[in-house]
Amino acid sequence: MDDPSRCIETRAIHAGQEPDPETGALMTPIFANSTYAQDGPGDHRGYEYSRTGNPTRTALEENLASLEGGTHGRAFSSGMGSINTVMNLLEAGDHVVTGDDVYGGTHRLFTGVYEAYDLEFDFVDMTDPAAIEAAMRPETELVWSETPTNPLMQVVDVERVAAIAHEHGALCAVDNTFATPYLQRPLDLGADVVSHSLTKYLGGHSDVVGGALITDDPDLDERIGYYQNAVGATPDPFGCFLVLRGTKTLPVRMDRHCENARELAAWLDDHPDVAAVHYPGLDSHPQHEVAREQMDDFGGMLSFELDGTLEQASAVVTGTEVFALAESLGGVESLIEQPTAMTHAAVPREERLAAGLTDGLIRVSVGIEHVEDLRADLAGAIERAMGE
Ligand SMILES: Cc1ncc(COP(=O)(O)O)c(C=O)c1O
Repeated sequence: MDDPSRCIETRAIHAGQEPDPETGALMTPIFANSTYAQDGPGDHRGYEYSRTGNPTRTALEENLASLEGGTHGRAFSSGMGSINTVMNLLEAGDHVVTGDDVYGGTHRLFTGVYEAYDLEFDFVDMTDPAAIEAAMRPETELVWSETPTNPLMQVVDVERVAAIAHEHGALCAVDNTFATPYLQRPLDLGADVVSHSLTKYLGGHSDVVGGALITDDPDLDERIGYYQNAVGATPDPFGCFLVLRGTKTLPVRMDRHCENARELAAWLDDHPDVAAVHYPGLDSHPQHEVAREQMDDFGGMLSFELDGTLEQASAVVTGTEVFALAESLGGVESLIEQPTAMTHAAVPREERLAAGLTDGLIRVSVGIEHVEDLRADLAGAIERAMGE
């Protein structure tokens, strides 16, 4: 059931989902089967083999396409599986322009895997259109951006980036994992394809790993579908079921994530032991105006730099009780981590520092617990770390 005129809160619950025609079961069943009976050779009812298609996955793919305002969705076994599929669209000799603070795993995929296949990459400041323009070459086929970025929370002007990519005949892909379609819809801003780690806010409960690509271009979707099936990084039906359950509450969860993050960012910004807070909702954020334009709210992720040593920053991330010291993000529970030692350890130190990723940076995924408990937990950890 998808009616694009309905609000996102309604589509989150209903898009792609109908009661089971045989039993009336309201929730999409988990079709735990690898193959499907055919009525005659090649005469099937839409499904032949579960790597190629599975009804639980179809429901999820339609739901995600609706949320992003796209016409086609494809689900993968992880966010890296979806990013890899975009890379499958390229050929040896192609050039990619991307951000200098993209997610560490994305950086590793580009340099550690695809450079060996003769793809070339330029990592630039994606908040600076002149830097993107200067990096474009005749052989540039893809401009890959993330916004807000991980972990510095920089905001990339998607409309501007898409225009530059298209002027040069390149594809514009946006990783919308941090913002989610509830807060930002890159396809409406001109992007060709949107990528997600479903592991984060869309799943929402830190209990599943998945990825997705959404587009409104049927030809592009057909190519993506070819690689989805040929490469086989497809999700299992139980994982699809979990994400479908997660997307139903995406809007209410995101409202609380945003509210809590806004309060914590303002409090940290005034904290005497904090040197800098990176949160697009702060007036002082360098791309605050772009964020106001292209996002409906500022999300649940923030990072900050302690006005102290590397050891003191480590003591903060190991000193919280409500915030768990863990990688990942976007679950209902709050998480804290030190990117240079954890999520971004794969990025060479020189490159990290050049992109502003200092050793003392702390990243926080603000959960939906009561904000006063979160504030007290962080305050205590900072106080103990600073020996106050
Ligand atoms: C922005 C972003 N994109 C992609 C990924 C990769 O997703 P997954 O871990 O589901 O493979 C991550 C993982 O942290 C991420 O933060």
